[in-house]
Amino acid sequence: MSDPASGDPSSAASTLAQAEAKIAACDDLAALKAVEREYLGKQGVVAALLASIGDQPPDQRRGVGQRANALKQGVQQALETRQGALAEARVASQRRGEGFDATLPPPRPERGSLHPLTQVSRELEDLFQSMGYHVLDGPEVETDYNNFEALNISADHPARDSHDTFFCEGSGHLVMRTHTSPVQIRALAQLEPPLRVVAAGKCFRQESTDASHDHTFHQMEGLVIDREISVAHLIGAMKTLLRGIFHRDLEVRLRPGYFPFVEPGFELDARCPFCEAGCRVCKRTRWIELLPCGLVHPNVLRAAGLDPDEWGGFAFGLGLSRLVMLRHNIDDLRHLLGGDLRFLEQF
Ligand code: PHE
Repeated sequence: MSDPASGDPSSAASTLAQAEAKIAACDDLAALKAVEREYLGKQGVVAALLASIGDQPPDQRRGVGQRANALKQGVQQALETRQGALAEARVASQRRGEGFDATLPPPRPERGSLHPLTQVSRELEDLFQSMGYHVLDGPEVETDYNNFEALNISADHPARDSHDTFFCEGSGHLVMRTHTSPVQIRALAQLEPPLRVVAAGKCFRQESTDASHDHTFHQMEGLVIDREISVAHLIGAMKTLLRGIFHRDLEVRLRPGYFPFVEPGFELDARCPFCEAGCRVCKRTRWIELLPCGLVHPNVLRAAGLDPDEWGGFAFGLGLSRLVMLRHNIDDLRHLLGGDLRFLEQF
């Protein structure tokens, strides 16, 4: 390289010419950076030139300073020009489609999947629709009346206890529904009997959470109102429901169960679909507890303005969360609403 500090202006000019040649030869930004460092960096040519001023005879100093500045400006300008040219060239090559392989498969759009609870609700809704049921929906915030009163749950019933129910502050009479049964009351208010409805959705209870309890869980409610409904109709419907879920016929048994809005009330158990001789799921009993149900209590019918001597019915409340856990062998209820993609992507 010529020595720009020699005091020879033509040597300074050739330094700039060299720099410009290097810059023109750069094909990418990284190469430009390297040249920039070489000339304009802390240890660069321009810095060295400025540092040498003190060594120059006094009458030369001014000239060396000017040449250093001229070199700096010249290099800066050349860098900018080349940078602009490279950017333009890149855009032009992209426009020409260079580096684009039309035969490569396109990036796949990310697809979500239905939540297992949604899958099971939809399957069951289809099943019930095929049996002539209407699919209803109800609000998650309910009136005290629909959630308790109209369901024959008296004011001193333990389910109303503040340990179980989320009361909506300030409203006085609104609660987060503790079950889907208030949809029974809405159905009775909206539809004329005979009627058949199901309604699936979220319910809320103030639980301490563990593997089988969560503050939010899902149920599917069913209600049939007609003349001369008996427990035989209830069992028939429940067996069809179980066939839809487990794709085979399962033996069932009824145990007495107390729910204020049904009389008689039952817990319906099904033969464990997973074993012949007892397993972890059925806790070695060969029965799994699945469905609280019963015949609609006369007080519920009366509250809806129906004559219990003319009309009867059955109702059931299927625990959807538990069903999904059974179906997919999920060991902790809290996974269902945890929102963890590693869990959800498996469905
Ligand atoms: N709603 C009741 C519960 O959550 C279940 C139930 C529904 C019982 C319908 C009988 C009939 O616990």
